[in-house]
Amino acid sequence: MRHLLDTTDLTVEEIDELIALAMDIIADKQKYAHICDGKKLATLFFEPSTRTRLSFEAAMMELGGNVLGFSDASCSSASKGETVGDTIKIVSCYADIIAMRHPIEGAPRVATYKSDVPVINAGDGGHSHPTQTMADLLTIFREKGRLKDLTIGLCGDLKFGRTVHSLIKAMCRYSNIKFVLIAPKELSVPDYIKTDYLEEKGMEYIETENMEEVMPQLDVLYMTRIQRERFFSEDEYLKHKDAFILDTDKLKTAKADLTIMHPLPRVNEITTDVDDDSRAKYFEQALNGKYIRMALIITLLKWGGAL
Ligand code: CP
Repeated sequence: MRHLLDTTDLTVEEIDELIALAMDIIADKQKYAHICDGKKLATLFFEPSTRTRLSFEAAMMELGGNVLGFSDASCSSASKGETVGDTIKIVSCYADIIAMRHPIEGAPRVATYKSDVPVINAGDGGHSHPTQTMADLLTIFREKGRLKDLTIGLCGDLKFGRTVHSLIKAMCRYSNIKFVLIAPKELSVPDYIKTDYLEEKGMEYIETENMEEVMPQLDVLYMTRIQRERFFSEDEYLKHKDAFILDTDKLKTAKADLTIMHPLPRVNEITTDVDDDSRAKYFEQALNGKYIRMALIITLLKWGGAL
């Protein structure tokens, strides 16, 4: 049995196989419509979500399976003081696979010590969000036809944005990837991401606070929200909240085939008129999230011998 806590739990070959499986699901949904008949997915969300939880649930339903779980920890016995370990031990008696989001970094890892079924990290604090990264990789692959030879701009809250950390870790494993890190100094990528991934893997990267200056270089622009819930004070958040706003004017110097991404939800970092630009792919990215989660559910259940 295997769990998914981080994309580094997967080999590059396994990531490529998951993307190939998602592409096959997109091409022939009927082929997979009953593959999970009789199986149950539990979604345990100790932190708010729209896309991740609902796309996981839609994914399982489209595979013929059923879903159970909670979207608010206050409705669960966690509110009475039950530990994550005990909650998971119990839920693994009721479900074949668990997707879990928790505000505490490492909580999904603790869950794996107690679970009798595969656990998928659906986001833990500011640490990691591997299924979002898989959706991002599928989106880049569908738009560009490759996961190599790309200049990727990451913009916004690169300190607390777990999707950025996961995406950097994943893209470091592909060839000829250049990163352009666009953030205020106070919200730059954590040092461990620089030393353990970017520098360890010899990746080319620059850091800048000027989005307009680097725009013409980019093949992919990955915008992110300033993570209000992870700041220690509201004043600090307010200082940075409008640091970068992508609008149609700033896109004038961008490549004609730029891919604009955002894990969503957005607050105001992309103006709504950008939605009409054919280069805006963030809603497709959310849809890809469902397809890659279908591929992940099938694969983890197969690895665990449940399919
Ligand atoms: N991208 C993402 O994780 O969105 P939700 O918080 O709505 O799940």
